[in-house]
Amino acid sequence: MSHFSIKNGVMHAESVSLQRIAEQFGTPAYVYSRAALTAALAEFQDVLNAHPVGAGALVCYAVKANSNLAVLNLFARLGAGFDIVSGGELERVLAAGADPRKVVFSGVGKTAAEMQRALEAGIFCFNIESAAELERLNAVAGAAGKKAPISFRVNPNVDPKTHPYISTGLKEAKFGIAYDDALVLYQRAAALPNIAVAGIDCHIGSQLLDPAPFVEALDRILALVDQLAASGIRIHHIDLGGGLGIKYQEGQVQPTVASYLNPLLDKLAGRGVQVVLEPGRRLVGNAGLLLTKVEFLKPGEGKSFAIIDAAMNDLMRPALYEAWHDILPVVRRSGEVRAYDVVGPVCETGDFLGQARPLCIEAGDLLAVMSAGAYGMAMASNYNTRPRAAEVMVDGDQVFEIRRRETVAELYAGEQVLPA
Ligand code: LLP
Repeated sequence: MSHFSIKNGVMHAESVSLQRIAEQFGTPAYVYSRAALTAALAEFQDVLNAHPVGAGALVCYAVKANSNLAVLNLFARLGAGFDIVSGGELERVLAAGADPRKVVFSGVGKTAAEMQRALEAGIFCFNIESAAELERLNAVAGAAGKKAPISFRVNPNVDPKTHPYISTGLKEAKFGIAYDDALVLYQRAAALPNIAVAGIDCHIGSQLLDPAPFVEALDRILALVDQLAASGIRIHHIDLGGGLGIKYQEGQVQPTVASYLNPLLDKLAGRGVQVVLEPGRRLVGNAGLLLTKVEFLKPGEGKSFAIIDAAMNDLMRPALYEAWHDILPVVRRSGEVRAYDVVGPVCETGDFLGQARPLCIEAGDLLAVMSAGAYGMAMASNYNTRPRAAEVMVDGDQVFEIRRRETVAELYAGEQVLPA
């Protein structure tokens, strides 16, 4: 069920019309649905709870997908843990009320300061991505008089068959340690005084619509777990990363969480390991949209443009990955339908949110750019000195501003001219 729907000809988020949101908070604005966020997490929790292996599993929401405090706080209240990739994300989840014992720390370039802070907070696990990182963590933990729990992020060399910029599990990727190096590195870790081997981790890519590569990756990981056991190293948890895709286009079918997870959980039966997951997009992607207004129509001979007040700085995905987002009018009108390139005011040819979209619109109309809850605001920039959009969360018939629109003055507040 979508939490964004047409009621009396007007698109609503839950019970609130997007027209009302635009009047109250202006555009562009990110609009999230609390019920949609809750339902997305519940889909994971329900599948896990229904499976004997799933009990005690830890769902660590990948903060990078959408790091607004209200989103993090909602997930924390619902029992989720978090997958972080920076000291900044650590501070965010702590500020949002997360339980640090449910936090995993991923990423290839953790600094000593970030490691120290995470140790101090008492996180669940560091996902280690290189031999050098292991040595640094051992040193930092030693200086702090602590033992750091670790997993290695192992690269299973599986093709996730997704966009190359968001594939991570292939040999060529900068992520993870090579499969063939894993045994030696685990032995090294087991011998280090300030490291505690806790688990094993993999993340093969993002926006996977076919669950098969996840199964392939798990098979490779389990073979390694057996080798490790034979050499006396016990793995307590298996972190399967994130990556489950969502429907971006009307008519597209997204795999259910059950069809993705159950085959994986079946394979883990009898192994006595805890399951950890790091879903990002799947928890937030279809729980948000970008609300924008048409500034001008520019009909042309070759192409017609709808110039909107949102741009590539607000939603980078189309420019960066040629990603598709459905673009729907908030109020349907009848009249001539034309194919528009829906573009922003930024001075780049790549500044489009959609191309050749059949729309019946006029200047001043509101448009909803759908499926924008993941990697939308989180990747927004201030390019062209554009303040970042407001973010609001709808809960039933109520709307809460969860991040106010930036002001222009804030954008250069930290800058300084040279002395005269
Ligand atoms: N765990 C790790 C280690 C990751 O690197 C990622 C995403 C996730 C979990 C969450 O993956 P998800 O469940 O969201 O697929 N900006 C791109 C996506 C980049 C994904 C980066 N890593 C996009 O807009 O499509």
